[in-house]
Amino acid sequence: MTTDGLGPTIRPRRLRTTAALRRMVAETSVEPRQLVLPLFVREGISDPQPISSMPGVVQHSRSTLKAAAAEAAELGLGGVMLFGIPEHKDATGSGAIDPGGILNLAITDVVGEVGDALTVMSDLCLDEFTDHGHCGVLTADGKVDNDRTLAAYAEMARAQAHAGVDMVGPSGMMDGQVAVIRDALDAAEHTDVSILAYSAKYASAFFGPFREAVDSSLQGDRRTYQQDSANAVEGVREALLDVDEGADIVMVKPALAYLDVIRRVRDAVDVPVAAYNVSGEYAMVEAAAANGWIDREPAILETLTAIRRAGADVILTYWAAEAARWLGSSA
Ligand code: PBG
Repeated sequence: MTTDGLGPTIRPRRLRTTAALRRMVAETSVEPRQLVLPLFVREGISDPQPISSMPGVVQHSRSTLKAAAAEAAELGLGGVMLFGIPEHKDATGSGAIDPGGILNLAITDVVGEVGDALTVMSDLCLDEFTDHGHCGVLTADGKVDNDRTLAAYAEMARAQAHAGVDMVGPSGMMDGQVAVIRDALDAAEHTDVSILAYSAKYASAFFGPFREAVDSSLQGDRRTYQQDSANAVEGVREALLDVDEGADIVMVKPALAYLDVIRRVRDAVDVPVAAYNVSGEYAMVEAAAANGWIDREPAILETLTAIRRAGADVILTYWAAEAARWLGSSA
């Protein structure tokens, strides 16, 4: 390895000498087209409302939502993922199915604004719409009823497709949800609406700020349907099942504490893999940066690079627009 007196012959540092060389040999890149911006729209407001645990993220009104989506399109993002916050929540989440419900109206607004410039996605789950905050309807004794929830998801899928959505994102972790949604879409002649399945979704403390974002006060926890953080093999199983049921893209969520699961899923399936860089991951970096404890921009870019390196083809991130500005638009 060494030549007498001349030091090492093999010097990996050589390829790190200049920025140009480092750029040339970089194994992983993050591009605006790979980023999806989650957006919140709240019924009955005219000014955007800040979300205190997610500084820089807001609950949009219908009109500011359209502006945010237009900006996302200009920046060359891959898409937007829409979440609705209804004025009234109830036990069955009826606002999710109502064609006049906030999320369905917002889908039509955004599709009208951006057309085909952006993939418009919508969360397909009941938790933003239920007064108990669970992702499904409950039995008399308070358990989440898988199969009755599936029927609600089918209706929700039809309503979102009718509103014009490009891609639905079932995130409730009910067994069989992708198959039921695919059937419902196909039966309603929406064969071209695709499914981004939240396949390996874990019962995570990192969803905390999201609850504030959608005004949800969850009763109990989600451990009977979201996965145990101890399990990676099970995450792969869930992803394979979703591919079999017709998922076009499978997703791992959260991202940072589950980079190994992203890698395993990437190696196991033959569809694109997405990862959700969730609210708590955003809040951690923002809080540390606000305190001057970490350098914000490099920390964000390192985070997104790590998620890509783990194997994610697509990243849902609250930093999507800002990161796209740093990275340079490819639009
Ligand atoms: C369910 C849903 C949640 C998130 C996305 N879709 C909340 C949950 O399952 O508890 C969380 C996203 C985030 O934390 O950024 N509708």
